[in-house]
Amino acid sequence: MNIGFMGLGKLGLPCAMAIEEKGHSVVGYDPGEIVAEALRTRQLPYREEGAQELLDLTNIRLAPVAEVVSRSELIFVAVQTPHDERFEGTTRIPQERRDFDYEFLKHSMAQVAEEALRQQKHVVIAIISTVLPGTVRREISPLLNEYTQLVYNPFFIAMGTTIHDFLHPEFVLLGGNDLKARQFVERFYATIHNHPVYATTIDNAELIKVSYNTFIGMKIVFVNTLMEICHKTHCSVDAVTDALKMASDRLISTKYLTAGMGDGGGCHPRDNIAMSWLAGELGLSCNFFDSLMMARENQTEWLADLMEQHDLPKVILGKAFKEETNLTVGSPAILLKNILVERGHDVLMYDPHLDAEAPAFQRSVFLIGTRHPEFRVFKFPAGSVVIDPWRYVEVSDDVTLVPVGQAARTEQAAQTAATHTKQLHVHAGDSATAAPPHHLEDSPQSTTVYAPGMTGSQGSDPCPISGS
Ligand SMILES: NC(=O)c1ccc[n+]([C@@H]2O[C@H](COP(=O)([O-])OP(=O)(O)OC[C@H]3O[C@@H](n4cnc5c(N)ncnc54)[C@H](O)[C@@H]3O)[C@@H](O)[C@H]2O)c1
Repeated sequence: MNIGFMGLGKLGLPCAMAIEEKGHSVVGYDPGEIVAEALRTRQLPYREEGAQELLDLTNIRLAPVAEVVSRSELIFVAVQTPHDERFEGTTRIPQERRDFDYEFLKHSMAQVAEEALRQQKHVVIAIISTVLPGTVRREISPLLNEYTQLVYNPFFIAMGTTIHDFLHPEFVLLGGNDLKARQFVERFYATIHNHPVYATTIDNAELIKVSYNTFIGMKIVFVNTLMEICHKTHCSVDAVTDALKMASDRLISTKYLTAGMGDGGGCHPRDNIAMSWLAGELGLSCNFFDSLMMARENQTEWLADLMEQHDLPKVILGKAFKEETNLTVGSPAILLKNILVERGHDVLMYDPHLDAEAPAFQRSVFLIGTRHPEFRVFKFPAGSVVIDPWRYVEVSDDVTLVPVGQAARTEQAAQTAATHTKQLHVHAGDSATAAPPHHLEDSPQSTTVYAPGMTGSQGSDPCPISGS
């Protein structure tokens, strides 16, 4: 098929290249210099798994809107619907709440609709951009004409794995009342993969998209609440969440259930804020989304408290919003830095994906703000304290490690754990050989699972997923 793209940014370009790889021919319109530069130099300014290989070979070219319309049967619109930087999640949340800015999206939709009318050319348009429920009805539909058939088709992808997520979605979401247009888009997706399609109204699809993102933020706030409880009691957060992850039938999938920093990225925090604006507009009995954002901020504040317990220079390792990316949008590590600066501290930040060279570190309190693999065996100066909200860092004997939410590894809890283990051994017939297993006794094929930190543990492999 001939496919067009309006907007070849962080979402549009990787997806356009994945579509091209499936045998389609793609042209796009994008007024931004970044895309033109990326296509010219064959280099992306952001890390995206599998993108470089496709970029090396791509025939995608930029074209005027008129050409995108004249040659395309299906046009995807992946134009930004930004929020003011204040709502990004790297600073404290302001009092004010706002909807997204739809001016870019409206402009690009008007451009396509005008060209379709001028050329009297029928075209199916699939909007990918994130919008709040009611937006297409209110802002976009009035721009359409008899030559434009619309579906709302948001993607559920995480930055960094855009291509994989586009090619392997849980489902394809198609909102729209135009059956022919929807069926056309379904035929297109049949050429890409065989994952299920969920068809519904545009309003429903708009809400499904933002609630999917805010659900992720909710899971992260939930596990980080458990992390704080565990840190203040004798529980171990990974032991707790590893058990919850096994309840994938009655509870939830294992993803986004490993405690760490707050949710981040260009989508989730800002979607929460937009939803909290909507909650106010609708006069909801509870502005749940507001609570999520406040919880994210307060949990970051608590990490600042942990750093302040040590009278040492403050260092945050990692600026990116998630591991192995160089994107800092919505980064909770930067929110933490801003909170510390507000409290009067000088804060040094270092991220190997963003900084050419590591500074010369002195004895400090380090907090691992991004779960980059590079920090697992980092060389910390002797006498330093390392606060690890991810519980994956290894340190030498001359460095104090604070695995957040893993009380069992702190000195006090180590004693408690020892006592606990002793008691369990007594119950087990004073056997010193076998570790105390947790039995799933109801199951006919009972499986033995060892909680992290116990002898015989299968270890936890904390799922490093966070952010959008
Ligand atoms: N990046 C993601 O992971 C992701 C995931 C899901 C949804 N989304 C949503 O998709 C949309 C795009 O996100 P993004 O991250 O790619 O944004 P982006 O800012 O990286 O890219 C948007 C692109 O649109 C271009 N543009 C602006 N006006 C245009 C016009 N009139 N015509 C054509 N192009 C125009 C810009 O130059 C830019 O290159 C947003 O609504 C976002 O919320 C993004």
